[in-house]
Amino acid sequence: MALTVVPAVGPVLERVLDDTFPLWHEGLTREKYGRYWAAQLKTPWSAAHLDRVALQDGPHTVSSAKRYDLAFLIDGRIRRVLGIGAVFTAPAYRGRGAATELLTRLMERAEAEGYEFAALFSAIAPAFYEQLDFVPVPLTERRLEVDQKGGGPPAVLVRSGDDRDLPAIAEMSAARAAGARLSVARGEDYIKFGVARQRLLAGLGPPGLREVEFLVTEEGHQAVAYLLCVAHLGRWTIEDAGDRDPSGARLGAMLQVMLSRHPGEAVPEIRGWFPHGLIPPQVRVASATPTREVLMIRPLKDRMLPLPPLSAEEVTFWHGDRF
Ligand SMILES: CC(C)(COP(=O)(O)OP(=O)(O)OC[C@H]1O[C@@H](n2cnc3c(N)ncnc32)[C@H](O)[C@@H]1OP(=O)(O)O)[C@@H](O)C(=O)NCCC(=O)NCCS
Repeated sequence: MALTVVPAVGPVLERVLDDTFPLWHEGLTREKYGRYWAAQLKTPWSAAHLDRVALQDGPHTVSSAKRYDLAFLIDGRIRRVLGIGAVFTAPAYRGRGAATELLTRLMERAEAEGYEFAALFSAIAPAFYEQLDFVPVPLTERRLEVDQKGGGPPAVLVRSGDDRDLPAIAEMSAARAAGARLSVARGEDYIKFGVARQRLLAGLGPPGLREVEFLVTEEGHQAVAYLLCVAHLGRWTIEDAGDRDPSGARLGAMLQVMLSRHPGEAVPEIRGWFPHGLIPPQVRVASATPTREVLMIRPLKDRMLPLPPLSAEEVTFWHGDRF
């Protein structure tokens, strides 16, 4: 039977969701896992930039993956990047080249459509993706300790973020990205998708399992710092953050305000993929380690495209940018 790549919709999607649910349910029920995917597709960004495809052998769904249409800023140029996520082969079909076939076809198609790079996050030993010419991009996860001394929270105005803050947030992202050799080029819709995705996961999960805080600090009616944080099992993950102040002092103050709202509770472990140079003065880096999931990238169109070795300090990539 000839293999074909088809959009994962209808019964094919249900099959893919049934197969991947045990691995990637993130605390959701099977029904909510399906709703989580459907709801993600309804945001303005994902409607045009995200889908799921399956490799079919006749009626049988063999492998599947998510496709993201991303833009990275690499050495000062915007590059269109095929983001590949959730690569999965049904257990009965493993070890026969199905995932390799699906990835190869997706990359061939992307190349024909003008994409310049493909990227993915590997949760498995990187050898599999290295065979397909992907190379790792180093990313650092930092654990932060926030100075809470000095009596009482700092006097900064912190409120919930919303759509009117998106232009200022996009501007802060762009300013930070300009100093990096590799970063995600993030428009307003993309940033909104990042917030929506976290809120959907928290909202569909059991009450209290995940809590999302999307906060901004305002000055003159404009957001000058922001923070997207997910609290989960005693850990805060900073999914995304920014500060107009290059020192990150407002961001540090926001963390102090957040902690002051939970007096008497055990201090959470705070982690984030903080870019080099954005460590607020109120914060001590308790540890810095390579991220568990490894970002890997390869050129598509022109194998000679420059992707010089990058150091983690040269990359700005937030946990919330994972795909
Ligand atoms: C990883 C996965 C997609 C590979 O699918 P597949 O169709 O069997 O892949 P292929 O037949 O094209 O290639 C097989 C190769 O994958 C690699 N591989 C499979 N599982 C792996 C793992 N857990 N760690 C490292 N490499 C792995 C091996 O190199 C294997 O080669 P081998 O069969 O000679 O040992 C499949 O095992 C799977 O769905 N696993 C569960 C989901 C998952 O972990 N996805 C990857 C997320 S990054």
